Amino acid sequence: METNSVSSLVIFLCIFMIMGSQVIKCSVTYDKKAIVINGQRRILLSGSIHYPRSTPDMWENLILKAKNAGLDVIDTYVFWNVHEPSPGNYNFDGRYDLVRFVKTVQKHGLYVHLRIGPYVCAEWNFGGFPVWLKYVPGISFRTDNDPFKTAMQQFTQKIVGLMKSENLFESQGGPIILSQIENEYGAQRKKLGEAGDAYMNWAAKMAVGLDTGVPWVMCKDDDAPDPVINACNGFYCDSFSPNKPYKPTMWTEAWSGWFNEFGGTIHERPVQDLAFAVARFVQKGGSYINYYMFHGGTNFGRTAGGPFVTTSYDYDAPIDEYGLIREPKYGHLKELHKAIKLCEHALVSSDPTVTSLGDSQEAHVVSSGEGNCAAFLSNFNSTSAARVLFNNRHYNLPPWSISILPDCKNVVFNTAKVGTQTSQIQMLPSNSQLRSWETYGEDITSLEDSTAFTATGLLEQINVTRDSSDYLWYITSIDIGSSESFLRGEQKPTLTMNSRGHAIHVFINGQLAGSAYGTRTNTRFTFNGPVNLQVGTNKISLLSIAMGLPNNGVHFESWNVGILGPVELDGLDQGKRDLSTQTWTYKVGLKGETTNLGSPDKVNSVDWLQASAITENRQPLSWYKAYFDAPSGDEPLALDMGSMGKGQVWINGQSIGRYWTANANGNCGVCHDTGTYRAPKCQLGCGQPTQRWYHVPRSWLQPTQNLIVVFEELGGDVLKISLIKRTTASVCANAFEHHPMVANYQIESTSYEKMLHEARVHLQCAPGQSISTIKFASFGTPSGTCGSFRLGNCHAQNSHAVIEKMCRGKQSCKLEVSNNYFGSDPCPRVLKKLSVEAICSRQ
Ligand SMILES: *[C@@H]1O[C@H](CO)[C@@H](O)[C@H](O)[C@H]1NC(C)=O
Ligand SMILES: *[C@@H]1O[C@H](CO)[C@@H](O)[C@H](O)[C@H]1NC(C)=O
Repeated sequence: METNSVSSLVIFLCIFMIMGSQVIKCSVTYDKKAIVINGQRRILLSGSIHYPRSTPDMWENLILKAKNAGLDVIDTYVFWNVHEPSPGNYNFDGRYDLVRFVKTVQKHGLYVHLRIGPYVCAEWNFGGFPVWLKYVPGISFRTDNDPFKTAMQQFTQKIVGLMKSENLFESQGGPIILSQIENEYGAQRKKLGEAGDAYMNWAAKMAVGLDTGVPWVMCKDDDAPDPVINACNGFYCDSFSPNKPYKPTMWTEAWSGWFNEFGGTIHERPVQDLAFAVARFVQKGGSYINYYMFHGGTNFGRTAGGPFVTTSYDYDAPIDEYGLIREPKYGHLKELHKAIKLCEHALVSSDPTVTSLGDSQEAHVVSSGEGNCAAFLSNFNSTSAARVLFNNRHYNLPPWSISILPDCKNVVFNTAKVGTQTSQIQMLPSNSQLRSWETYGEDITSLEDSTAFTATGLLEQINVTRDSSDYLWYITSIDIGSSESFLRGEQKPTLTMNSRGHAIHVFINGQLAGSAYGTRTNTRFTFNGPVNLQVGTNKISLLSIAMGLPNNGVHFESWNVGILGPVELDGLDQGKRDLSTQTWTYKVGLKGETTNLGSPDKVNSVDWLQASAITENRQPLSWYKAYFDAPSGDEPLALDMGSMGKGQVWINGQSIGRYWTANANGNCGVCHDTGTYRAPKCQLGCGQPTQRWYHVPRSWLQPTQNLIVVFEELGGDVLKISLIKRTTASVCANAFEHHPMVANYQIESTSYEKMLHEARVHLQCAPGQSISTIKFASFGTPSGTCGSFRLGNCHAQNSHAVIEKMCRGKQSCKLEVSNNYFGSDPCPRVLKKLSVEAICSRQ
């Protein structure tokens, strides 16, 4: 029963299997140490992959990459709003095919944690709630409210029923070992008091009553009632303990990075710190870790929440938005996972014994009681390395790191020492031209058509649009008499208006007078600007734009969007005039949206203007279309929207999402690998558009004549939009001598001690490619990172020649980091490293 191959056999054949004289039934339970699957305690490594954030043809590859990184479990939320677009009408097609996703995970022998919620937060539109839910009479979200509880129960039952009907729970022989009800409810519960407690208890009871045969989890709610397991989410969770001594210590969201918002910087989290956080959790007794995200993906269409969350949900995850492996994050975590798994038996068998090895150094030792012992040696000092004595041996611990010793003797992994290959990703022009551009102006002179309506005063936006579009027109007019003094003066009247969110473009008599925007954390903003008014009737048309509905905050469902006023005109002879209470005309959405202009069927339902007109046409509110052939190859694709302003894009009728090239504003400084990480710590991309590239899934393309339709709100140069291939520019190795390598560690081998000290690096090109050039090679004391290595004072002169001879023309090459290759030692008694940058090319 000890080896993995036997246990995975048990997993899939276990419904009623005779083991000796014992009948074993598939089951998932838990105890204080771990989740117990078919009688075995497990250290489970998990990663979040959200099925609607990629395409079904990407799923298998993502899951295989997750498996290859050593994960046991794939975690996903269930997204209510995409599955039930209107009450009782369900959609499980395409990207929303949850059963297919779960079965794809099952096919590759991994487990699933199904986080039903149905509140999911997730930077997803409205936190995953359908917008219609807000308009159910008497409803109040996530509290002791009958209409809400009825709807939540119905959807939860629907999902559980669907999974049961496909035999997908582990108790039925399926892959689902855990389910989550609610999500991060603790903070809201405390604010709501009794009603919050009652709702939490109801939710737990309702879920358990669905009888799935697998445990339920509530994350970030310390009072989760039995038998529901409370779990931790955060950048670190080593100070977390479950609320009962008989529950396992689970980390449902180990944040691998952070999300981005338009106008904000790019967030990254160093893998050294992430690995350190995971090792801290495991050494303390944690037995379940889920990376949020393992693959973040893309917020296609209008699924991004926030507001202002970018279309990219890359999250600095080990697998990037496009499905490519991100190094060294992926490789370093893979090594960490191997090291943890070598300790699995001891970790689940005993509580750690903790001894101090210094001011900020500790040893955590676990043993399996069969003479097997594993140790984690930690150094919490963020600036100084430490030399510690453990079991009569000396160990060097870099700052802010943990060494893992699966036999209490040999270090196979240190969280701060990244020996894995790194890579440089580049966005290369593709061979595909976007051609036959044509344009069509969103007609704003005749907005008051049959679908428009009037009302006195200002209306809340979502109540009007029901989120069927981002856009709502607020239109009114003002008469200017010929005697107004401003007509003869210098000073134009000014228009001031307050909006609750999220953006507005102001048009006076059809001309753009200005724009204003809120932010994710402060959606309210004021537009204030001079306006050109003429004698007679002036039309004031305000385009109010929702940029994704909020996904968290107490009663976020009640937060308003739109121009709620006041709207005032100042500088007239009468003084200030309040326009808020006069008659307004409302029109939901754009004409191009109503005619479904993005779709191949409907694109020709309007009269487009030829390309020659485009160069002069930088008009706001313009539609554009063009055609292109699918680029050759299989690299992931993106649109470079750097020449454009703000809007949406469709490819063959599929929305690739909102785009906005607003520049990142933030605090980009040096990002240290050590010290406590918080999202503001490592910011990148200041002064550049937060998101310039937009993922175009290959599966949305046909070989030729693909239709691209762009709606641009502000104006931009469509002729500069291009299709880009995302590829690996070069691969790099960068490792010290004597670097511990878990890959070399074999418990059965008597020579493993020797092997451990032969640090190796492994350069590997993608399948079908080989190493064509060695761009940099130095054995000595080089500095820098992949793409920008520099020689140090110590350098073996023949480094380049030696590496070139060994690696050129090969798909992969393994190198020992030692003198042996380079003849004499270039600098004795100095710790040396080998840095190599290699270019991969198609053979
Ligand atoms: C880290 O180590 C240095 C050198 O030993 C020491 O001066 C410093 O106080 C330590 N910092 C912490 C937080 O322990
Ligand atoms: C929503 O609109 C309806 C009319 O369609 C109105 O009766 C109701 O008061 C509005 N609710 C809010 C919150 O604005």
